[in-house]
Amino acid sequence: MQAVVPTASPSALANYIVGTHHALLREELPRIATALRETGQAELYDAWLELAGFLSQHLAKEEEILFPMIEELERSGYSACLAGAMSQMNYEHVAMSSLEERVRQLSMRSSLRTRITALLDDLAVHACLEDDELFPLVRELAGFDGT
Ligand SMILES: [Fe+2]
Ligand SMILES: [Fe+2]
Repeated sequence: MQAVVPTASPSALANYIVGTHHALLREELPRIATALRETGQAELYDAWLELAGFLSQHLAKEEEILFPMIEELERSGYSACLAGAMSQMNYEHVAMSSLEERVRQLSMRSSLRTRITALLDDLAVHACLEDDELFPLVRELAGFDGT
């Protein structure tokens, strides 16, 4: 069954993202790293660690900087630096997709491929939800133009 994604307010959507997509990454990234270390696929393991390191910083920036700014916008009608913070996250989603693509390529013949693919597919949905749903909602509320 498809989950119902709350889009009533940007902060409701941000909280949903943290509770679902961020929580899944925090659970699965280290577990898959441990499993990969045991398979002896060094190149895939290294690529996974690089992606996991990138993501752990990215999630922290969203949860500690961007999402609190969104809450501030809803509370007070204004939040400084919000457009720049969204652009930075958008830029990071692009950078993340090339790390993700490398892991997909390297995991083609891995015994963990199904599990890796499931997590990367969820990551792609997650980034689209932020770029295509959350950020436009924030821009609308803040009165930014579409850029
Ligand atoms: Fe996120
Ligand atoms: Fe993100």
